[in-house]
Amino acid sequence: MKQLHHLLLYVVFVVSCSNHNQFISNSGTIVKNAMVSSAHPLASATGLGIMKNGGNAIDAAIATHFALTVVYPQAGNIGGGGFAVIRMNDGTINSLDFREKAPALAHRDMYLSAEGQLNDLQSTHGHMASGVPGSVDGMFTLHQKYGTLPMSELIDPSIEMARRGYVLTPLAAELLNTKQEEFQTYNRWSTPYHSDQNWQAGDTITQPDLAQTLEHIQSNGRDGFYEGIVADQIVAEIKSGNGLISLADLKNYQSVWRKPITGNYRGHQIISMAPPSSGGIALIQLLRGTEGYPIADWGHNSFKTIHLMAELERRVYADRATYLGDPDFIDVPIDKLLDSVYNQKRYIDISFDKATPSVLVSSGKISPSESPETTHISVVDANGNAVAITTTLNSSFGNKVMVKGAGFFLNNEMDDFSSKPGSPNQFGLIGGEANAIAPHKRMLSSMTPTIVTYKDKLKMVVGTPGGSTIITSVYQTLLNVIDHAMGMQEAVNAKRVHHQWYPDEIRVETDALNENVQNDLEKLGHRLRITDKIGRMDCILVLPDGRLEGGADPRGDNTAIGY
Ligand code: DON
Repeated sequence: MKQLHHLLLYVVFVVSCSNHNQFISNSGTIVKNAMVSSAHPLASATGLGIMKNGGNAIDAAIATHFALTVVYPQAGNIGGGGFAVIRMNDGTINSLDFREKAPALAHRDMYLSAEGQLNDLQSTHGHMASGVPGSVDGMFTLHQKYGTLPMSELIDPSIEMARRGYVLTPLAAELLNTKQEEFQTYNRWSTPYHSDQNWQAGDTITQPDLAQTLEHIQSNGRDGFYEGIVADQIVAEIKSGNGLISLADLKNYQSVWRKPITGNYRGHQIISMAPPSSGGIALIQLLRGTEGYPIADWGHNSFKTIHLMAELERRVYADRATYLGDPDFIDVPIDKLLDSVYNQKRYIDISFDKATPSVLVSSGKISPSESPETTHISVVDANGNAVAITTTLNSSFGNKVMVKGAGFFLNNEMDDFSSKPGSPNQFGLIGGEANAIAPHKRMLSSMTPTIVTYKDKLKMVVGTPGGSTIITSVYQTLLNVIDHAMGMQEAVNAKRVHHQWYPDEIRVETDALNENVQNDLEKLGHRLRITDKIGRMDCILVLPDGRLEGGADPRGDNTAIGY
């Protein structure tokens, strides 16, 4: 209890320091032993406390994940799902898929009217939008294989924060005020997040229902969520809005260990997530396409570097739309897509004299004979074990529905399926057969939790939210460190750009490109769209002397701390 008290005092200090309109530093927090980087100072402090108590990186990541459910409800979750990529200090690698699944009653055309019109409000808002949550099963599955402290110790701090309350940061208060109308539309009761007046920074939110739900999980393990009272509450909530998730869907949910996607880039090994995430494959494809070019000489966010990235990205996202989906349902041609000859051919028509209109780009030919909110946690412990977890409700506060009596938001992950071939989802992504809805199927993701090693030593742990921009944010962050010689915080701060085939435009963060670069790109035929913020990275870099540098995104309340 004394330790928790110290932790909370520390956290109050951190929260009061986190005003992101202040000076942004290019050098991150540097520590000697262990570090957690996450979207919220209270969650990072929770993970750090666990490592100080003797827990390893996986224990810390699990505790951080539960803490984010309490203090970062827009994305932290027990009602969503995600992916974990792990590298233990003996060099073994692994990854866990705890992505949501379509309910048994889901069907391919469930969001289409009789006339074939797409009802995208149903796949994004309210009870029909939820997939069967995977996060709680994921945390227990991770713990069973790698955890060292008892699970109940990892959940304790979150119960305490839910019960005693937590203090809103300026960004959190601002976000909640923009969501009041949706909370009212999609809930028939007053959740702890409703307010008649505007929320202010410094206000405290208590969540007694969520505390009780976490206690059920603490006492009964995964069954405390997937069976019994909490499962009954979820199904009652879902039924009240004509959703499809049943008790059997919950009971049968299982996470899956998957072989990570690996590849090399300029002597580094990249370890990332396999399908049903598109992240690992797309990232390696982009890096393969980049490797032949001297982008370090061309410079960060220079005209040639941006043109190359955009041309690669439109091709890789075209492949994504055609070939990627749940590997338990379709044959994903992983080896083919990662093959170096395939990638060479794929990019052969890139010209430096003109942009290729996306209408002229389709997916590469694979020979038929062969087969905004999410959040990321990066942790490295004092023994060099590392874990990268990206987890999500999909949109900010998911489908906006809080389970009555249980106190947590449900996901709207069904929108990540391709509900109608060729029609864009909320991220503007299009897809086809490979990612069509089917009962029990997992929807395609862009989440890209990634670990990088160099000469068999841990070098980076990286990840971010951002929907379709996740893959390109991770890609740019790796290039920033490996090619552009930036430190971790500098690489995270650096302005980002993004292309995803369709819409045929380069999204450009404000001030990312100087006027000459913009003009040169437009002359080649690129269309540019200036956008506010892309991504909220949480990263850790192992410095040459073994110390750890955090990269916590100043675009949010992200915080990297360690000891
Ligand atoms: O899995 C995916 O790709 C999406 N559901 C991620 C959503 C996301 O990152 C929203 N955050 N800004």
